Amino acid sequence: MHRPILIIGACGQIGTELTMELREKYGNEKVIASDIREGGDALMGSGPFELLDATNYAAIEDVVMHYEIDEVYLMAAMLSATAEKFPMRAWNLNMSSLFNVLNLAKEGKISKIFWPSSIAVFGPNTPKEDTAQSTIMEPSTVYGISKQSGERWCEYYFKKYGVDVRSVRYPGLISWKTMPGGGTTDYAVEIYHEALKKGQYESFLAKGTKLPMMYMDDAIRATIDLMESPSEKIKVRSSYNLAGMSFTPEEIAESIQNHIPDFTISYAPDFRQQIADSWPSSIDDSAAKEQWGWEPKFNLDQTTFEMLNNLKK
Ligand SMILES: NC(=O)c1ccc[n+]([C@@H]2O[C@H](COP(=O)([O-])OP(=O)(O)OC[C@H]3O[C@@H](n4cnc5c(N)ncnc54)[C@H](O)[C@@H]3O)[C@@H](O)[C@H]2O)c1
Repeated sequence: MHRPILIIGACGQIGTELTMELREKYGNEKVIASDIREGGDALMGSGPFELLDATNYAAIEDVVMHYEIDEVYLMAAMLSATAEKFPMRAWNLNMSSLFNVLNLAKEGKISKIFWPSSIAVFGPNTPKEDTAQSTIMEPSTVYGISKQSGERWCEYYFKKYGVDVRSVRYPGLISWKTMPGGGTTDYAVEIYHEALKKGQYESFLAKGTKLPMMYMDDAIRATIDLMESPSEKIKVRSSYNLAGMSFTPEEIAESIQNHIPDFTISYAPDFRQQIADSWPSSIDDSAAKEQWGWEPKFNLDQTTFEMLNNLKK
């Protein structure tokens, strides 16, 4: 019998699908969803939900005690593009929510944490192709600075206090169930919606901008596999590199044209181009593969097939 799980930030792009998958796996009543706002019907209707502010330690502690929570997945954060507009709010949310959960574990009130990092921990001086697990990390965005600091604190809490915290550096995530929440890779979701609605898309990233991406099913499977792995296999306690595919806006457009031949793409790069230019093009995830058996399943064409078929319904 799995002990109860709390998901903080459950109504977002990842949290929604993660909650549904964990409920399927461990039972609806075992997975408590929480957020500062209500979520979609499927999530709200399938199990317990609590309105909860991730920056409020006492409120999280109350929920943890009430449901006898054992594991926390912390998905609440301000994402890259939005964080550039509200730097201090992003820093406060991203760091205080993490400290709240780390400190609950330090005090023995929960036993395991999942906290996601991002490819945004890398910066303009990082080698761009096949970016290694350990390399130069000089993030130039507020979001990246918060994720890199978070990684350092996770490793510190593991080494110093034995906190069982696990993390992956998600690439840009592509999904059809929930819209993305203000990231630099959101174009790779919007493009499918617009392809079906209008037959054309204006990309906010320029031609040639190659970024690491992943289909949501792979991301959810990686997350749960990492959390279910025996502790001794998890050698990296900052955050694991994780790769699915890498592509440019023109490559995703070509992949869509295989299904919608008249689809066209145009380019009008905005402030997000600078963020994208500071990130890697492809990621070396051999540590995750070797240590806990990670293997991606979806390439670009499979992702396009899934996205268009599901969005058409
Ligand atoms: N989606 C991606 O492509 C991607 C890539 C890399 C890393 N990540 C990371 O994964 C995590 C989840 O990302 P996402 O894409 O689902 O984000 P999202 O913006 O879609 O969802 C975040 C959720 O957190 C909630 N939230 C915001 N402030 C809160 C607060 N104070 N208390 C409680 N909830 C709050 C929001 O209401 C939202 O439902 C984040 O840490 C993000 O940095 C995401």
